[in-house]
Amino acid sequence: MTSIIEKRVSLHRDLANQQQQNDALKAQVLQLQSLANIGTAVYMIAHEINNLLTPLANYAALALENPDDKSLTDKALRKTLQNCRRAAKMMESMLAMVNGRRQEKENVPLAALVEDVFACLCRDFAKDGITVEIQIPQDLTVWAVPVQIQHVIMNLILNARHAMLPRGGVLTIRASQATDVTHIEVADTGSGIEPADLPYIFESFFTTKRPEGRGTRDEGRELGCGLGLAFCKKVIDAHDGCISVESQPGQGSKFRVTLPRPQQVGNGSSG
Ligand SMILES: Nc1ncnc2c1ncn2[C@@H]1O[C@H](COP(=O)(O)OP(=O)(O)O)[C@@H](O)[C@H]1O
Ligand SMILES: [Mg+2]
Repeated sequence: MTSIIEKRVSLHRDLANQQQQNDALKAQVLQLQSLANIGTAVYMIAHEINNLLTPLANYAALALENPDDKSLTDKALRKTLQNCRRAAKMMESMLAMVNGRRQEKENVPLAALVEDVFACLCRDFAKDGITVEIQIPQDLTVWAVPVQIQHVIMNLILNARHAMLPRGGVLTIRASQATDVTHIEVADTGSGIEPADLPYIFESFFTTKRPEGRGTRDEGRELGCGLGLAFCKKVIDAHDGCISVESQPGQGSKFRVTLPRPQQVGNGSSG
């Protein structure tokens, strides 16, 4: 009898010990998870700053190569400054996102915002055989943190461009408004996405633009790090919106962003 009681006591002690170890491991996993999240966020910031650095270097080079063309030099320097400021804003905004700090949303005119993305990219799409079609009503606004939505559109445009190289194609950016939501669509006529890859494209670090991957078909195209779409999803989720894709290999891709329109109360605007 005594031995049974002793066994029970010992079992209870073991159980309590196991429970304690389990709790400690859970706390460790949570800590590691938050460290991993910070790591991904740092990568994302670097990725977005890098998106701005390439055009920044192009504008600076343009100014240096044309010292006698005052208006071109002025324009290039203005663009360089603009991109530096944007990079600073982007960094601030991403750090706020990582810290869970609330960021001010405003009604942003979408057409002007998209125009600004093209100006900031400093790339002649026509030179790559890419026709750009923009169908956005001039009075359409989105309720968003401007620099974040701008980077979402920039990522979608850069991916679309990459998918259409070297053959070229058509890049279409459309937007429309319904009662409760705003739809934004970025479509290309490029390589399209393999059905097997579709479930993974919004995951951090998923990329097919690797030396050993499918992305090697066309030499000279940039490699990827698989953070652009993960960043887009993070931003759109933080805006209570959604992002989805429709794509067929060889037929191009269509990315759709849906953003809620703000309640009419308080902001007094139509958007
Ligand atoms: N417009 C597109 N056309 C074809 N494939 C695309 C397109 N956009 C994204 N993808 C696919 O999704 C993957 C992830 O994209 P992204 O997160 O931007 O990372 P990266 O561009 O660095 O590869 C790409 O590697 C590519 O396989
Ligand atoms: Mg990308």
